[in-house]
Order: sequence, then C-alpha cells, then structure tokens
Amino acid sequence: MVENSNLQNSYWENFWKEGNTDWDLGRIDPALKELVEEKDFELAKGNGLVPGCGRGYDVFYFAEKGYNMTGLDQRKGKIYSRRLLYKVPDTKYQLVYDYTFFCAIEPHLRRSWGNRCAELVSKGGHLITLMYPFEYICEPPPHPVTEEAYHEVLDNNFDLVYIDHNPRKDPSRQYKNVMAVWKRKRNSSVK
Ligand SMILES: C[S@@+](CC[C@H](N)C(=O)[O-])C[C@H]1O[C@@H](n2cnc3c(N)ncnc32)[C@H](O)[C@@H]1O
Repeated sequence: MVENSNLQNSYWENFWKEGNTDWDLGRIDPALKELVEEKDFELAKGNGLVPGCGRGYDVFYFAEKGYNMTGLDQRKGKIYSRRLLYKVPDTKYQLVYDYTFFCAIEPHLRRSWGNRCAELVSKGGHLITLMYPFEYICEPPPHPVTEEAYHEVLDNNFDLVYIDHNPRKDPSRQYKNVMAVWKRKRNSSVK
C-alpha cells in the first residue's frame, strides 16, 4: 500500500482545530434514516463500524438500534489512514457505514479501502455507502466520486444488492447523492 501523505491528515486536523466543520449536519443524514426505517431492506445485525464518523451521530444511531458499535475518526490526531484501514478493533463487522469517508481519503487509497472493507465485513454482512459528492465542489477533500469508482474496488468481494439514486435529502443539502448497500460475497477469496 502507498504510504498516506501527512498532508491529507493535516487537512482534516486543521478543519477540526479551526472549527471548519461545515459538513456536519448535526444529526444523521435523512437518507440513512429512510434506508433503515422505511425501506423494505433488512440489514445484517451485530457489530457495526463507522470509519470517519466525525462527531458520531451515525454511531449512536446504530447503537440505539441494537448494534455493538465502533466509530473511528482522526479528529484527535491519533488515528491516521493506515491505522484506520489496518488497525481497527480486531473483529468482524456485520455492518459498515461509509458516509463521506470514501471521498475524504485520497483516491490512491481507495483500493486499500475496498480490500480492507472486504476483510472487515463478515461474509453475508453489509457495507452501506452513501455516495457523495459527484461533482468537484471545492479544493479536495472531498474528492469527487463516481459509482464506477466504488464498483472498481468492491466488485471482487461484494455484490451490489440495493441502490437508490434519489434518496431523501435534507432541505439544506439538495445535491446529488446515491444510497447503496453491498453484500459481502460468501465465495470471495478474502477470509
Ligand atoms: C466529511 S467528514 C464526515 C464526518 C461524518 N461522517 C459526518 O457526516 O458528519 C470526514 C471525516 O473523516 C475523518 N477522516 C478523514 N481522513 C481520515 C483518516 N485518514 N482516518 C480517520 N478519519 C479520517 C475526518 O476527520 C472527518 O471527520
């Protein structure tokens, strides 16, 4: 794996230090609530992980739903990409939720992200990706994404089992986003 640059980490540390957290909605995104509470889709239960969880609204949300949750973020300057990708608590997760972590890491780390997701999600477990942003909105991060970019690094080990191209949006955030759920293949080579 390519070493992570310090530059990327200092971006996020500086955002936190300066209180520049405009991405923070102050609650979970309506698209997640819609998926969990209104859509006819049963998510795997058990251990849950939210990488790049920020203030952790999603972590608490899933904990209230009965998941045994872990949330990770570098905001205290202690967890960096390599650690996040390689040194999360040593267990399998039935559910991983990625919202704006995929776009927060540098694109050259995306394949490592995909491989690590495969190692972390138990066979038959789910990876939720709320995909955003599809356009260049400012000097990255966030790095723009495409659906294809997720497929490129997930298809070996996951099947796309749910996709909503127009999930519910917060009134303050009328941008394009896509909600997707990936199921870990039972027959992929990753243990
Ligand atoms: C756009 S914010 C989203 C936070 C949260 N998901 C939310 O919606 O409020 C991206 C988060 O990823 C964290 N982050 C970025 N790079 C990281 C890394 N390499 N390791 C751990 N966390 C990271 C940042 O500190 C930031 O809190």
